[in-house]
Amino acid sequence: MLRRFGSSRDKSDMVGLLLLTLLVASLQAYLSDAANIALRKKTYASSIFSSSYNSSYAVDGAVSKTAAFFMSAGDVDTDPWFSVDLGGLANITSVSIYTRCDCCVNRTRNAELRIGNASITSREDNVNYNKMVANGIAPDRLCSPYSISMLTETIGRWVTFQNHNPDCTGIECALQIIELQVFGTVGKHVGTAGCCSGTLPGAAEPCMYI
Ligand SMILES: *[C@@H]1O[C@H](CO)[C@@H](O)[C@H](O)[C@H]1NC(C)=O
Ligand SMILES: *[C@@H]1O[C@H](CO)[C@@H](O)[C@H](O)[C@H]1NC(C)=O
Ligand SMILES: *[C@@H]1O[C@H](CO)[C@@H](O)[C@H](O)[C@H]1NC(C)=O
Ligand SMILES: *[C@@H]1O[C@H](CO)[C@@H](O)[C@H](O)[C@H]1NC(C)=O
Repeated sequence: MLRRFGSSRDKSDMVGLLLLTLLVASLQAYLSDAANIALRKKTYASSIFSSSYNSSYAVDGAVSKTAAFFMSAGDVDTDPWFSVDLGGLANITSVSIYTRCDCCVNRTRNAELRIGNASITSREDNVNYNKMVANGIAPDRLCSPYSISMLTETIGRWVTFQNHNPDCTGIECALQIIELQVFGTVGKHVGTAGCCSGTLPGAAEPCMYI
């Protein structure tokens, strides 16, 4: 049946549809917020530019244009990395990285995303122990989430993002992240081997799978 918009019935249908759309949108926002398992977790970085660019700003939940962000030191750190400890094993479906809003999106080139069970907290740790899930990452838009979906089942506790810009000098080598979000489920008992058997792996329990 052909319907024309204009009658009061149609208008109330449209208002209803609009309200439903808004409800679905806010529910989606709520669910995706709820599913960001990196939010306010413990973070580490190979360097920080200064204490105003602490790695913790990359998981503070703030993604606005003026939000504080993590930034590595640049010149002294040409392959900078950022790492977040999810606090337990997680089944990860995707990772979103928000780029800086005012400039410098081209500083992140040839970056790698790794996920695994080896703790990465200091420059003595070998980032390469964990599984590479994406490489050649080069976001091209300011202030946007760059999203990486897992192609195969990915279970791990540590998420590391490392820049390998092949042609940068000085501050142009810096890694900058407004927010790094990890989507998936945390705390589920998976696997049988090693320290993760029996109990849920918690932050206090050293959990190394190399
Ligand atoms: C970064 O923030 C964390 C968590 O708030 C804090 O423990 C750490 O001392 C800070 N590091 C620096 C260098 O400010
Ligand atoms: C991990 O998540 C994927 C996608 O949701 C699901 O298919 C898979 O069964 C999960 N694996 C485990 C061990 O829970
Ligand atoms: C990014 O682009 C700017 C402006 O074109 C340039 O000055 C800078 O050197 C570039 N940085 C990198 C790391 O390629
Ligand atoms: C981390 O450990 C869990 C539990 O043993 C295992 O299922 C998972 O595959 C490991 N992750 C990686 C990236 O090796």
